[in-house]
Amino acid sequence: MTGGAGFLGSHLCDHLIGDGNEVICVDNFFTGTKRNIEHLLGNPSFELLRHDVTFPLFVEVDEIYNLACPASPVHYQHDPVQTTKTSVHGAINMLGLAKRLKVKILQASTSEVYGDPAVHPQTEDYWGHVNPIGPRSCYDEGKRCAETLFFDYHRQLGLSIKVARIFNTYGPRMHPADGRVVSNFIVQALKGEPITLYGEGTQTRSFCYVDDLIDGLMRLMDTADEVTGPVNIGNPSEFSMRELADLVIEKVGSSAGTTFAPLPSDDPRQRQPDITLARKLLGWEPRVALSDGLDQTIGYFRELLRAQ
Ligand SMILES: NC(=O)c1ccc[n+]([C@@H]2O[C@H](COP(=O)([O-])OP(=O)(O)OC[C@H]3O[C@@H](n4cnc5c(N)ncnc54)[C@H](O)[C@@H]3O)[C@@H](O)[C@H]2O)c1
Repeated sequence: MTGGAGFLGSHLCDHLIGDGNEVICVDNFFTGTKRNIEHLLGNPSFELLRHDVTFPLFVEVDEIYNLACPASPVHYQHDPVQTTKTSVHGAINMLGLAKRLKVKILQASTSEVYGDPAVHPQTEDYWGHVNPIGPRSCYDEGKRCAETLFFDYHRQLGLSIKVARIFNTYGPRMHPADGRVVSNFIVQALKGEPITLYGEGTQTRSFCYVDDLIDGLMRLMDTADEVTGPVNIGNPSEFSMRELADLVIEKVGSSAGTTFAPLPSDDPRQRQPDITLARKLLGWEPRVALSDGLDQTIGYFRELLRAQ
């Protein structure tokens, strides 16, 4: 697994090892941390490899999960050239490995391939509405190019590929300073600061709890060769930012309330997955309610802030 020390990757390591697999976790620790995987370090089924996926990798494995890529705007915009390289060169290197070993490979793609969507909710056959030259393009276009590479390796070389389009996911081990809305709101509330709402807080998002997401990825990997995706994996329940903020404030018991800031120019108003295909192909749908997932996530950040 590439990106195995990150938020999603570390949970995927846990689930794969829990199911009796052996995992080689490849990461350059750009956004991932050893803390996310330290509980696995002594486990004989777990091997950690510090490696940057923009360089070729030679290992022997039976399946490849390609998750390496910073996922939040603050991180992927820090070094946009490296972000595109990670998506594109990383995909080429891992597809090359899959080709050499004749093994299946899963790509962690993203709902960002839909850009600022003109259709709602987004189905997999929607081609997207993406700015190719903006500050988010290194991520969006890098991921789109990675999908292109996956499908060309499939068509041209017969590789078995699986492309998952992941929508907003949250849970323990999110980076506390990645600027994503769930972690932002929780950390602000736990620190006794007012929660920042952009615009009037009426924009909506859908949030998938990490355990549900990992279950979806593992089901996709286990499908027959003819299933390539892309498949949307996310939670279609929509919440406004105002509703999310109120829920976090209530659960944390914060008295600091909310504060308002101007809406960023490239912020999508609405993003929601259509998961009809995932239901049909994978027999999958999210099970964890936002309230339960938030309890787990708040518990994690409470501990993290206390330790810091
Ligand atoms: N979390 C989400 O809501 C979400 C949504 C859509 C897509 N995704 C995708 O899922 C994957 C994992 O996301 P995440 O939320 O866990 O992000 P994350 O930043 O926590 O994890 C990414 C991991 O990749 C590693 N990495 C980055 N560049 C690398 C490189 N060049 N070589 C090796 N390792 C490298 C980082 O150190 C980190 O451990 C990403 O590909 C992301 O695009 C995530």
